[in-house]
Amino acid sequence: MKKASLISVGAYTPKHILTNFDLEKMVDTSNEWIVKRTGINTRCIAKDEVTSDLATKAALVALQRSGLDKSEIDALICATVTPDYFCMPSTACKIASNLNLNNVTAFDISAACTGFIYLLDIAKSMIESGSKKNVLIVGAEKFSSIIDWSDRSTCVLFGDGAGAAVISARDDNEIIDIHTSSDGSKGDLLITPGCGTVNPASQEVLDKKLNFLHMAGNEVFKVAVQTLTKDVVDILEKNKIASEQVDLFIPHQANLRIIEAVKQRLNFTDEQCVVTVSKYGNTSSASIPMAMNEAYESGRLKQGDLILLDAFGGGFTWGSALLKFGGK
Ligand code: ACO
Repeated sequence: MKKASLISVGAYTPKHILTNFDLEKMVDTSNEWIVKRTGINTRCIAKDEVTSDLATKAALVALQRSGLDKSEIDALICATVTPDYFCMPSTACKIASNLNLNNVTAFDISAACTGFIYLLDIAKSMIESGSKKNVLIVGAEKFSSIIDWSDRSTCVLFGDGAGAAVISARDDNEIIDIHTSSDGSKGDLLITPGCGTVNPASQEVLDKKLNFLHMAGNEVFKVAVQTLTKDVVDILEKNKIASEQVDLFIPHQANLRIIEAVKQRLNFTDEQCVVTVSKYGNTSSASIPMAMNEAYESGRLKQGDLILLDAFGGGFTWGSALLKFGGK
């Protein structure tokens, strides 16, 4: 049985930068509050680009770095909760078309901020079962499209962006283990209530702003810290790996306080921990591959490095992954 290996990573962020000082002019907030409570300074906002545009640009970078020809990709999966279209076509089909990938399996998944870990799980299974050889995975979000820009409790937190990776059948540098899970009973704490089958699109839905993201931030925060910590402890114990053996810990980038809490509980050092939330805010399914790309481009991530990924998000969903980086 061939092993599945993450052989390349890429990312793209839109050019427009929204600062905390810009937000001060839009809602009753302050740079001081945002930095102190979240660690965020800036986020990127897509103006003339849609989710598939961001995804295509990130995917192109990952594809180029993989050294593979386009014709060798046999599946493309996109994780997003801000797809181009509500029902169809899928964002993955649009990306495949943009990249001129013909006859590939293409579909979207929805797992909010845990999207990239779910993507890894699916790609690993496809490769180890022998059904696919090279799978292009993309986490892409245009969160600015589901944000109520008059709600200070959410509008300061999120940004737009995309991150991608190629997962291939290889003999070494494998994805060692992945754990994914969910608890649907807590779904109401982080929800876009409108425009689905529960509250179909209507003037009332728009008037009540049900098409936007609603979050019980404080309650989500507590569950996120507990769950992320437990997930890391469990996957390390299961694989008999000590936290100091991990070269890079790349957690979901939602809030610096959440990252710091998990980091301290697990005794990770600054050198081990990748933090990008200050620049990009929370980009949901794109946040982990964007952070991985940043570590790669800055020379912190090298072939054979042991990486630990950890995410928590709407659903609730959560997951962790332990892998050796297979990129050059
Ligand atoms: N500026 C100024 N004041 C604010 C702002 C703001 N932007 N936002 C909220 N406040 C106020 C509140 O109104 C409240 O005031 P009050 O005490 O007078 O009522 C006070 O600040 C404290 O509010 P809290 O919500 O308790 O603040 P908290 O410290 O919890 O921080 C935050 C809020 C940043 C949202 C935090 O709870 C958080 O990060 N939650 C988790 C986010 C997360 O991990 N999400 C999961 C992934 S997202 C996904 O899957 C899509």
